[in-house]
Amino acid sequence: MSTVDPTLFERTRSAALLSLLENDGFVFIPDSIPLSLLRELKDECLDARNSALRAEGQGELQYRSSLAPLGMKGRELLENAASSEILEPLFGRKFSCSWNASCYTYYEAGDFLAAHLDGVENCEVTLLFYLDATTPGNDPGESGLHLTLYRQDEGGVVVPRKTIATTAGGIMLGFGSRVLHGRRRLAEGEHIFMLTACFTSAPA
Ligand SMILES: [Fe+2]
Repeated sequence: MSTVDPTLFERTRSAALLSLLENDGFVFIPDSIPLSLLRELKDECLDARNSALRAEGQGELQYRSSLAPLGMKGRELLENAASSEILEPLFGRKFSCSWNASCYTYYEAGDFLAAHLDGVENCEVTLLFYLDATTPGNDPGESGLHLTLYRQDEGGVVVPRKTIATTAGGIMLGFGSRVLHGRRRLAEGEHIFMLTACFTSAPA
């Protein structure tokens, strides 16, 4: 049973948000994680960092980051409130977490994620909870502190089309299996620690 206050996450509920999401494929809602929950998740995320494993891909999908399994707080969020308080009010249907695609993710200097699509079978909706992050400066074109959205031009070449600054305390909602996205290399002294999760519609 969910113990989450029903007024939590109310910033994630609006028709405008849904139309932005449908338009861009990804939408960021700053300061939308309730503060007490943010503290708990951040503590759990920082603890798990000690056991995080480096993840590096040099094949078709190029990436570099560190990953750690979720603890009790993260799992509880994804099991209950993420669907009932965020996704269900927005989309009008229930969702289930794809546990094999959900974890704590750590980006530090030199880490990046090349343009990609999330798996269509387990990532109908992508939810990213930004728990601790360096605040982006004025250079959205190059900074890894932004999520970059891409498109394919007429020749099939993948080109950037939009960057979205991602700050601690915010939630990103995305159609990650439909819209190409990635993160440029983080510079020295920069970091982003987040809870990354994938959801699919629950069977009716
Ligand atoms: Fe992704």
